[in-house]
Amino acid sequence: MLSLTNKRILLGITGGIAAYKCAELTRLLIKAGAEVRVAMTRAATEFITPLTMQALSGNRVSLDLLDPEAEAAMGHIELARWADLVLIAPATADFMARITHGEAGDILTTLVLATSAPVALAPAMNQGMWADAGTQANLAILRERGFAIFGPASGEQACGDVGLGRMLEPVELAEHAAALFEAGYLAGKHLLLTGGPTREALDPVRFISNHSSGKMAYALAAEAAAAGARVTLVSGPVNLDTPRGVKRIDVESAEQMLAAVMEEVANCDIFIGVAAVADYRPAEVVTDKIKKSADELQLRLVKNPDIIQQVAQLQRRPFVVGFAAETTDIIANGREKRARKGLDLLFANDATATFNSDSIAVTALSAQQETEFAPANKQVVARKMLQLIANLVA
Ligand code: C5P
Repeated sequence: MLSLTNKRILLGITGGIAAYKCAELTRLLIKAGAEVRVAMTRAATEFITPLTMQALSGNRVSLDLLDPEAEAAMGHIELARWADLVLIAPATADFMARITHGEAGDILTTLVLATSAPVALAPAMNQGMWADAGTQANLAILRERGFAIFGPASGEQACGDVGLGRMLEPVELAEHAAALFEAGYLAGKHLLLTGGPTREALDPVRFISNHSSGKMAYALAAEAAAAGARVTLVSGPVNLDTPRGVKRIDVESAEQMLAAVMEEVANCDIFIGVAAVADYRPAEVVTDKIKKSADELQLRLVKNPDIIQQVAQLQRRPFVVGFAAETTDIIANGREKRARKGLDLLFANDATATFNSDSIAVTALSAQQETEFAPANKQVVARKMLQLIANLVA
């Protein structure tokens, strides 16, 4: 149940079309028990009126840095001190750029600089603007400085494009905000995860691999660290930044992944096997590049070790969680796999919809219960998965 009882949330609205969702967001935050005050950039007032936000929040909206009346009611520094959380939704590319550089030319940038409360950003922009190297560089700096980033989600955009850059839905933002205050549900736990694909070398320049992006494992690692866990991530080759506070060990092959896991597993409480480990590897790795000659080339493959099964068979074993990306009979295959590998919990999902995607729909299967999670952003689903695991481990 969403709880924000007595939390003071300063909602900062910047000028993007997703600003219209702030009415619903404010309603949800208040319903969850929060006190909400709103500050808006001038551009934001083109998308939603201050009067709407005043009526819903029950408080006067801050619009100008140098407004004597507003300053007399609650000055901007006082407002920055008042907040338990500053939530900027939507956060435009321009606003992110400005706070990256410590600008303080308007009420909202000034509040971000002045506050010592956590600041969360819900980016919302055109997919091209999100993907742009400038935005991504700013994002990396903001993450590094400890800003929480909620989303964005992928999908249809107001401009007609389809891609990453949609603001998360108000209910998801409210859940993320609540989770920031609950951080600590995995405090004291050590989590070990595998993620990404493995690469099985054929010769010095070629390998067999798969399309796993690593996004699910990285989302879980980031959420677990934010929830207070000590997190070790054994990662195959992926194109993702290491989440804050996560110890990352890079490997390539399944055998290297197994060795790294066995090094780390001794004192971990929870093991989550998210990696798409190659089932087979070439029987021999030749030291010189295979030359093109005959019309046919036969490859002989041998089975790779099953990492999660080996963890599940340890004498002193952690709570073991697996994933099953299936293309047919998703639940039946998942149940069978969980039992055969001796896992405590397994998340079954549709492989065709999941690989390299930003969203996921899963069903959690344990010996006692089966719970279906609605399709959502991997970050949102990661939290639900970890909360379920935390409940089962506690
Ligand atoms: O590939 P499969 O569907 O069997 O994967 C199910 C689970 O087993 C996943 O959690 C995966 O990370 C893990 N696994 C593993 N080592 C393998 C194959 C799969 O840890 N060799």
